[in-house]
Amino acid sequence: MPRYAYVNGRYARAAEAAVHIEDRGYQFADGVYEVCLFVNGAYWDEEGHLARLARSLAALSIARPMSERALKTVMNALVRKNRVKTALVYVQVTRGVAPRNHPFPQQDIAPSLVMTARAFNLEKSNAQADKGVAVITAPDIRWARVDIKTIGLLPNVLAKEEARKAGATEAWLIRNGKVTEGSSSNAWIVTKSGELITHPLGSEILGGITRQTVIRCAEAMQIKVVERAFTPAEALSSAEAFLTSASNLVMPVVKIDGTPIGGGAPGPVARRLREAYLRECLPA
Ligand code: PDD
Repeated sequence: MPRYAYVNGRYARAAEAAVHIEDRGYQFADGVYEVCLFVNGAYWDEEGHLARLARSLAALSIARPMSERALKTVMNALVRKNRVKTALVYVQVTRGVAPRNHPFPQQDIAPSLVMTARAFNLEKSNAQADKGVAVITAPDIRWARVDIKTIGLLPNVLAKEEARKAGATEAWLIRNGKVTEGSSSNAWIVTKSGELITHPLGSEILGGITRQTVIRCAEAMQIKVVERAFTPAEALSSAEAFLTSASNLVMPVVKIDGTPIGGGAPGPVARRLREAYLRECLPA
């Protein structure tokens, strides 16, 4: 069955869907995106993702392509059209099409809106979470506004490729001796005294929507959450580690730079938080 993408008002076969060569997203990475998980008829953390999309657009003075209500309608239509029960939906908005020139186009141009929906295997993700994943560390060479979810992801791509080459799933990025986050996820450790540590919000990390929900779950479970930066050394001697993102939910980390964490198996806190997150998001 062909996959369908949404491109500027049309549902097109994904293989044939195309954007203009002078789209500023293509030429300047002048755009933003969201990735949202759809499971059995509902988006997880939909309001959070749409609110962050609005914040990213506002930060770059890109016009909203349509109302939030219309966006939800298109997202729903796309998953229906693709006949997927569980999917990762990608939403990208760029400033639009204009002759290549660095300043914003002075005439009004319509932002470009592209959406794709790819089947997501929740059982496979659960099986991966039962084993846990390995991460490496890599220098954080990104720009100073990574709190905006822009499509300019080359440093993230390079770090992820280093991870892949090392047989790991993610790269934890190091800036000024501290772990900021992963190349496409937020980073967490659990100290031996049971505190949950993750980098505070600010311009050095992307404020994950999953991160926000996991903090809420942890607090409801009476787990103390401390939002502060931690060092790779602290991570290596932590009781547990895990990462969060829309596509990983809560994923235990069992190895950092080849060193086993928490005995090399997923820890109880990560497991309980994953269960709590699933309960929070799965439609009843
Ligand atoms: N990545 N940090 C970075 C750098 C990210 O790219 C992401 C998400 C996150 C976690 O955010 P959230 O919990 O809202 O998914 C943190 C998406 C999944 C991606 O690029 O595919």
